[in-house]
Amino acid sequence: MRGPISWKGVSLMLATVGGLLAYYEYEREKRATAIQPVVSIGRASLGGEFALVDSDGQPFGSADLLGRYALIYFGFTHCPDICPAELKKMEESLAAYHSRMPGDGARIQPVFISIDPRRDTSARLKDYQKQWSPSFKFLTGTTDQIRDIARKYRVYYSAPDEDGDDDYLVDHSIFFYLLDKRGEVVDYLGKNMTAPEVTARLVKFAQADNSARK
Ligand code: NI
Repeated sequence: MRGPISWKGVSLMLATVGGLLAYYEYEREKRATAIQPVVSIGRASLGGEFALVDSDGQPFGSADLLGRYALIYFGFTHCPDICPAELKKMEESLAAYHSRMPGDGARIQPVFISIDPRRDTSARLKDYQKQWSPSFKFLTGTTDQIRDIARKYRVYYSAPDEDGDDDYLVDHSIFFYLLDKRGEVVDYLGKNMTAPEVTARLVKFAQADNSARK
């Protein structure tokens, strides 16, 4: 039968395109994970100072994290699956960590930093953070500020088409960065690690750091 494309056909086609886009991001995120940054963790090789804003629109920077451990994740709130899965893993691993290392001095501050400053405004983060542990700090910034911190942390992410609409995915590398109390990156944990594996690494670090201080 010949005739104009049916609505059913059009919606099927759109669903397929949507599926492909989601798959594309998944594949890209997987590949980004596979590319481990070749860096020796040490002074000034990875990480550095940054100035961003939190979900209340208040300035929040690297100086605000000094004196406590932090676990930083870079992502975007419109991420359909990878970021939510990684944030969940972060919650689970930190809950287990804090029950094993209960002291205030061992506390790890979880931080989410958006690599999608165009859509992830403070207001958007404020809404998004409701579904996560209140201990999380959600940060965003200007395009330049995000570009700067991504360069320092060697985070790869794709920028959206400037003239395109607001419906896009962002490819990005997926790591948890562990910062010590001086703000130095002391470890980075890939997407392949399970929550118990992350917990074990965090406990090992905190115990070693604690005994080094004594
Ligand atoms: Ni993501």
